Amino acid sequence: MKPELRKIHRITPDQSVVCIIGKDEIPDTIVLTREEREYAVKQLRTGEEIVFINSYFKCTYFVRIKDGLSGFKASEELRKAASGMKKLIRSNDHIELVITSWDVYERSVADFAEGLILSIYKFDKYKTKDEDDVPKKYPSVLLLHGNLGRAEIKWLDDLTDAVYLARDLINEPVNHLNSLALASEIEKTGKNAGFRVEVLNKGKIEALKMGGLLSVNKGSVDPPVFCILEWHPQKPVNSKPFVLVGKGIVYDTGGLNIKTGDYMMLMKGDMAGAAAVTGVFHTLAKNNVPLHIIGLIPITDNRPGGNAFTQGDIITMFNKMTVEVGNTDAEGRLILADAISYASKYKPELIIDVATLTGSAASTFGNQAMAMMTNAGRKYIDLLAECGNEVYERVAELPFYDEYNEAIKSSVADIRNIGGREAGAITAGKFLEHFAEYPIIHLDIAGTGLLKKDDHYRLKEGTGSGVRLLSLFLKKTAEEYKKLK
Ligand code: BES
Ligand code: MN
Ligand code: ZN
Repeated sequence: MKPELRKIHRITPDQSVVCIIGKDEIPDTIVLTREEREYAVKQLRTGEEIVFINSYFKCTYFVRIKDGLSGFKASEELRKAASGMKKLIRSNDHIELVITSWDVYERSVADFAEGLILSIYKFDKYKTKDEDDVPKKYPSVLLLHGNLGRAEIKWLDDLTDAVYLARDLINEPVNHLNSLALASEIEKTGKNAGFRVEVLNKGKIEALKMGGLLSVNKGSVDPPVFCILEWHPQKPVNSKPFVLVGKGIVYDTGGLNIKTGDYMMLMKGDMAGAAAVTGVFHTLAKNNVPLHIIGLIPITDNRPGGNAFTQGDIITMFNKMTVEVGNTDAEGRLILADAISYASKYKPELIIDVATLTGSAASTFGNQAMAMMTNAGRKYIDLLAECGNEVYERVAELPFYDEYNEAIKSSVADIRNIGGREAGAITAGKFLEHFAEYPIIHLDIAGTGLLKKDDHYRLKEGTGSGVRLLSLFLKKTAEEYKKLK
């Protein structure tokens, strides 16, 4: 369970506290005996970054920020420090825990809380018994002390809910979350957060002739689904909407080009893009961000089966372009392409697609950055990069030269769904670009969205990559629009 967040104005002497400090000094707001105080200061002076005082009836933790560290690096250090302290905090079995800071930057309290919340997430709904060796719990309430505003706390609360939601959706295996189930989870989120969700069923998808989505679905027993999300605030600052597209492959076997070895591992999470988009809508709607946004989520699994699509198939896509299927495991781009051309209907300001698209993006950047390819204007690229640093979901830009189009030429159709061995992430991006009639930012989260092992507060399997980045990016975009008005 995620802890509740509450703002407090005063710390009482009996409360357990995490105090973030920037010097080897302790503020008067922290009540300790003289011996405890002297001990803590001594420890800090020897260079300890975490000092823990157990006063029998309460605990006090000091977190010392490294000298001179500031900006987004300090934020990330604090999130990591929080995740590093989670076991210690749990061993003390607090019900409530105060987080305060002294003489350091204002957001430090929020950053620590965020790191702690994100690192104590667990996907354990299918465990029939509690296997934990210690019957102790994480705090159920975090009391945030200091000048953080109510709106900032609400943002953090909804944003971390959105990350938990995205992780839950990703971690849910396909035998519990097929295409229809994912669509109803998205609908449920819409009802809860206040955005509109329209679910197009197979008949409607056929009527629209979404050949990419229908082809990938051919080997499946479950029908395809196409979800349209819309957050239309009372007074939007923009007239042209932002369209977010999320890859919703609920399971990727590779299809007839089946994944061998252990390459199928984590492929229940091939809808991490869809989960991220859903999470972003949750955050923006809950916080009434005045930006008009549309979300497009094509959903299916990719399986071999009696009538599965095959290598060599020629597909007519939603926008009437024809695609030669060079490989059925390059399915993500086929369903995304239909969604991206469907976006034209909204005459968007910008399209952003999020997808676990290529192993190539993962091998290029590992889990340290998502791969970004774009033909959009510099102002959006710069803002995205800035947001990437701030939330530490960094974006690394790959070249998007038109010469890469050579690799996806087909002799029998307009285009082919695979390039050669080289530049796999880029040729996938170029493929998508052919279907975009408006500026597009393509984010390949194959490396950051799904992890084999924990990386601090980014936990194994679904990380929720993209939720914090795009929520902040769109919030800041709304603020920019307001300034122009
Ligand atoms: N879903 C995979 C990409 C992926 C791989 C995501 C590993 C996360 C972790 C995608 O559909 C895929 O299979 N891509 C192929 C494309 C190839 C056939 C051109 C790949 O990257 O190998
Ligand atoms: Mn695939
Ligand atoms: Zn895939």
